Amino acid sequence: MTMADRFDAIADVIRSRRTIETFRPEVPPREAILRAIDLARWAPNHKHTEPWQFHLLGPETTDAIVRLNTELVRLAKGAAAAAAKHSRWSAIPGWMVLSCNVSEDPNRTEEDYAACCCAAQNLALALWAEGIGMKWSTGAVTNTAEFSRLLGFEPGVRRIVGLFWYGYPGSVPESRRKPVDEIIDNRP
Ligand SMILES: Cc1cc2nc3c(=O)[nH]c(=O)nc-3n(C[C@H](O)[C@H](O)[C@H](O)COP(=O)(O)O)c2cc1C
Repeated sequence: MTMADRFDAIADVIRSRRTIETFRPEVPPREAILRAIDLARWAPNHKHTEPWQFHLLGPETTDAIVRLNTELVRLAKGAAAAAAKHSRWSAIPGWMVLSCNVSEDPNRTEEDYAACCCAAQNLALALWAEGIGMKWSTGAVTNTAEFSRLLGFEPGVRRIVGLFWYGYPGSVPESRRKPVDEIIDNRP
């Protein structure tokens, strides 16, 4: 493989990857998920802390998260919104959470979170290269104490980087980015 071929291959994966909103019902094979995690952990991490933990969720934990989220939506928006959310979340085929070490040193905590974000992108790209889409989700439910406890730790002991849904894309949305010129600051 030439350098140009290598560039084209990685550019295609990076550019074509999209956050997936709707998934087909099939659950991707566990081996593919493990291959993606194996690549995710090659992310840079200062002091080689390897601060990540990938929580692969089975049906019991998934159901508990769906119920927790449904209740949050019911309290905030009412029964109809909660029912709609319940049915949408119940149809998501693959569930994973990435959590990150928290340190007494705030600088280490920030660097470790940055490393976990790099790992999350590696994960998304590795999955995408196998035809598997992912959505990185954060928000009300991931911030609850109960969510951390469902993963086996007390709130604050680890930081939730994201709830990652994965599966084969039902559709792939369009996305765009600003022109490169707008994001480059040329300095003398
Ligand atoms: C830290 C982080 C948190 C995110 N949380 C959410 C979320 O809670 N809900 C959501 O719809 N998308 C979430 N996203 C996905 C972004 O909305 C998505 O990446 C963005 O729309 C760009 O689309 P693309 O990934 O297809 O390029 C999150 C992305 C990141 C990096």
